[in-house]
Amino acid sequence: MRIAIDGPAGAGKSTVAKILAKKLGFTYLDTGAMYRAVTVLFLENNLSLADENGIKRLLENADIKIIPGDEGQKILLNERDVTDLIRTPQVSELVAKVSALPEVREYLTELQRKIIAKGNVVADGRDIGTVVMPEAEVKIFLTASAEERARRRHRELLARGYEVSYEEVFREVLKRDELDTTREISPLRKAEDAILVDTTGLKIEEVVAKLLEIIGRKQDVL
Ligand code: CDP
Ligand code: CDP
Repeated sequence: MRIAIDGPAGAGKSTVAKILAKKLGFTYLDTGAMYRAVTVLFLENNLSLADENGIKRLLENADIKIIPGDEGQKILLNERDVTDLIRTPQVSELVAKVSALPEVREYLTELQRKIIAKGNVVADGRDIGTVVMPEAEVKIFLTASAEERARRRHRELLARGYEVSYEEVFREVLKRDELDTTREISPLRKAEDAILVDTTGLKIEEVVAKLLEIIGRKQDVL
């Protein structure tokens, strides 16, 4: 069974996808982490978004591995652990621009499909139900009000020691939503056959229960 979870930043995708994968014994694939890892490479190499040859070279030499573990997955970039580095505000600020590049999307979509082909999976991102695995048995479009999503992100950043204001986070979340929904290739949108789940005001456990119910219903008819 393939489960696709798409939606905007702070909707709760990675939190609930991780829990679902654990409960179901499926592989969890965090595609956003892959776009973030490529963004780390852009920052470290000071690569311009317009440098087509440079981007080609960068991707040819990139080795991104996702290592599942009890404490969540680890992201290895050319054998270096970048699990924490991919979550810095600098990466969050640039990632939507890097993700709009056709070369980057082509490269990562192929990598994602290889992982998905191995078996049962819960994958989260922006284009999973529409592009990466349009044939997924279960498609969820997770969302919440922009204010709540920014509040969640803000709380998370403060807990990790970043001194950012709520307003800054709110602006960043809106900006990223705008870039993700308006880009030309694989924009963020709900697949026609995806089930919309609004998580505004819902606790993580409540969202998980809702999704398990949707998955259970689907399993019954398969
Ligand atoms: O967790 P958060 O919502 O902040 O984002 P993420 O899932 O880590 O993804 C970071 C960014 O990567 C998104 O804002 C998109 O620009 C891009 N992305 C994408 O274009 N396609 C995907 N399948 C996943 C992420
Ligand atoms: O992956 P995505 O950007 O969609 O969101 P996330 O990283 O899973 O969740 C963002 C933050 O919101 C995390 O700190 C979650 O613990 C929190 N969260 C929440 O408070 N209530 C929910 N229903 C879902 C997530």
